[in-house]
Amino acid sequence: MVVLKGLIIVFIIFPFVNKLFALVNMNINNVKGNVMIIIVDDLRHLEDKSVKLRNIEKLAANGINFVNAFAQQALCAPSRNSMLTGRRPDTLRLYDFYSYWRDTVGNFTTLPQYFKANGYETYSVGKIFHPGESSNYTDDFPYSWSRFPYHPPTEKYKDNAVCYDSITRRMQKNLVCPVKVRKQPGHSLPDLQSLEHAIRILKEARNKNKPYFLAVGLHKPHIPLKFPQKYLARVPINKISPPKFPCKPVDMPTVAWHPWTDVRHRDDIAGLNISYPFGTMPHEWTLRIKQSYHAAAVYVDDLVGLLMKHVDLRKTVVVLTSDHGWSLGENGLWAKYSNFDVALKVPLIFSIPGYQPNVVHAPVELIDIFPTLIEIMGLSQNIPKCKSINNKTPLCFEGKSLAELMKATFINDVIGDSVAISQYPRPSVSPNEKSDKPRLKDIQIMGYSIRTRRYRYTEWVSFNNILFTKDWNKNYGLELYDHITDPNEAHNIYYKRKYKDIVKYLSKLLRRTVDSQ
Ligand SMILES: *[C@@H]1O[C@H](CO)[C@@H](O)[C@H](O)[C@H]1NC(C)=O
Ligand SMILES: *[C@@H]1O[C@H](CO)[C@@H](O)[C@H](O)[C@H]1NC(C)=O
Ligand SMILES: *[C@@H]1O[C@H](CO)[C@@H](O)[C@H](O)[C@H]1NC(C)=O
Repeated sequence: MVVLKGLIIVFIIFPFVNKLFALVNMNINNVKGNVMIIIVDDLRHLEDKSVKLRNIEKLAANGINFVNAFAQQALCAPSRNSMLTGRRPDTLRLYDFYSYWRDTVGNFTTLPQYFKANGYETYSVGKIFHPGESSNYTDDFPYSWSRFPYHPPTEKYKDNAVCYDSITRRMQKNLVCPVKVRKQPGHSLPDLQSLEHAIRILKEARNKNKPYFLAVGLHKPHIPLKFPQKYLARVPINKISPPKFPCKPVDMPTVAWHPWTDVRHRDDIAGLNISYPFGTMPHEWTLRIKQSYHAAAVYVDDLVGLLMKHVDLRKTVVVLTSDHGWSLGENGLWAKYSNFDVALKVPLIFSIPGYQPNVVHAPVELIDIFPTLIEIMGLSQNIPKCKSINNKTPLCFEGKSLAELMKATFINDVIGDSVAISQYPRPSVSPNEKSDKPRLKDIQIMGYSIRTRRYRYTEWVSFNNILFTKDWNKNYGLELYDHITDPNEAHNIYYKRKYKDIVKYLSKLLRRTVDSQ
């Protein structure tokens, strides 16, 4: 009980102490120059010490490394539109792939569009916006981009049966898919082509008198795990460790589970006959998939290194992040589609000329990137915070600038009061074929999740898909995980008596934060 009281006091006084420190750190240097943002597809925050992402780690060590950064929703289109407009999925009313904000909710300004309006030449290479309906089949061109977005020609083979299967001795649509690049259709891979194109743009940009905003979207380690074969040797399978808790936690509400249908349906995994929807991956395959996911990440890391050789870091702000994480068998889950840390936590690194390297532990969100970048570049004059009255205006911020936190000293960072909010929709309590990616018309439940430095707390509540309203009083699952005692989120402690006050505090904070948007 003493510990509990201490915690509550800590919660109450920390925000004030933080403000005090914030005053000391108020001077933010404005940087003039270029911006490059690298968005890696489905790259989780890698804490596995056995996997070396040398180039990304170098960028992190020399830059500002946010080690608790979270996506707003663990699905590509909602996360990307949210990050690029600086608005939450609830504001965009996008939880699936099938609406375009300008036509449905408001003519919101995007991050690249804002730079374009401020004299930048803006370029999109590879997957930045999720292609298709959610960006009007144009990646939001011409609003966001000066040139028509580039997509690598070999992307059209992304789902071909090009993986040699040593068991069936056939070419298949496998999950695990190391390849010989020479033998692939088009004799290349999408990320290799995107890299070449991005380097061409960087070379051209040197001779222009306009600054550039270049967004490079790398496709891997998104599934299929297709990458040049040589990378398998960089991640020996005997160095791969299985997840500590590879099964569905006993006290997890069923609504939190998703059946990772896309993984199951790959040819190699389908052949394993894993029972639906709760069956788990065989141990040997858990290791194989982890190995290939990491090999694909090392491949992407090499491409980042090659790209960085062409960037002048004295004149360029570089941001590296991902749209969301990816479960690698933790709690029996694979892929994204959930509110667990492994599906939501992403790398977030800023390299800014003149800024000291720093590691920031405070939880931050991908919607913070927009206000942060424009503050750093000195372009943020008079942009208001979004309130329910003005949240339909083209430009206001739902996130916050991280510029102050970047300069935070250890002490004020530790007591930082920021939290991260994420959400995930479900069609029903019991998992079915629609649970991973429900379409708007099928959504009945929304899981709202808040992450503090110590806890993840989630309420799965009734959601009205026509009025876009929620009923906090009608819940289908409640979860609390304590990251100090349980970093794997394998024990839902919501119903433990001793956490009663923590639950009460976090529930209030979650509802207030979600409702204030
Ligand atoms: C949306 O905003 C853009 C850029 O400010 C503007 O050119 C366009 O006319 C606007 N569209 C509508 C329908 O208001
Ligand atoms: C989206 O595309 C459709 C079809 O090309 C077009 O009619 C519509 O104006 C576009 N929306 C915006 C906001 O540009
Ligand atoms: C999976 O099921 C099919 C059809 O029932 C069977 O032919 C195959 O041998 C099974 N595979 C495994 C690995 O159990």
